Amino acid sequence: MSIRLEPRDPQTQSQGVVPGYAQTGQRWPSQPLQRRPLTAAELTGPAQLARRLGVSGDAARPVHGDLAGYGEKRAIGQLIHLRTRVVDEDGAPVPGAVVEVWHCNAAGKYIHPNDSNEAPKDPNFYGAARLVAGDSGLVELRTIKPAAYPVPDTGGWWRPPHVHFSVWGRVWLSRLVTQMFFPGEPLNDTDAILNAIRDPAARARCIARLVPSARDFLVYEHQIVVRGRKATAAMP
Ligand SMILES: [Fe+2]
Repeated sequence: MSIRLEPRDPQTQSQGVVPGYAQTGQRWPSQPLQRRPLTAAELTGPAQLARRLGVSGDAARPVHGDLAGYGEKRAIGQLIHLRTRVVDEDGAPVPGAVVEVWHCNAAGKYIHPNDSNEAPKDPNFYGAARLVAGDSGLVELRTIKPAAYPVPDTGGWWRPPHVHFSVWGRVWLSRLVTQMFFPGEPLNDTDAILNAIRDPAARARCIARLVPSARDFLVYEHQIVVRGRKATAAMP
């Protein structure tokens, strides 16, 4: 197997320490990265991740997740469908990729206990799902559109509506944590995390596409490239 790890592109990946976003100073290395040989662990694992995580699903078809619910259990908010395709650097689908997805509710509140935002919880909204990509690399999620929310102690930084993704591809090198944004959101222009990606085209690839729908929900399509020159920017 011949896998080469491309150097991290400072134009198409986040610049690391983001001014005004304090946690990035602890998350990013302060010293230059050192190259080291890749070992079998990076090139072959994790094996049978979906089974070990207890994710049900047939690899021959995409798994459909549902965070919105129905009837009395329906989460409050604007109903959307997210169609996310996981591909490699050549655009080939990554079937079997384990995709974890999470986002806040329609008031801007996460279920996480550390979320100090005073926005109300929604008892019908859990806000996280684990899915397995089908043969076409597709995962589909029925959910509600997340709201913008203020970032504490930043003097007015509001995150635009966004969805967090964690993707496990075939090997550890295909591990990616990123965020997806919605088109046409004014807060996209000022978000410190999205704009830490300096290349406009790479930024644009993090914004989903609204596609026509005659149904009672809005449909967004998105593509996540797990590695390579056009890899989707990592965003913790
Ligand atoms: Fe978030």
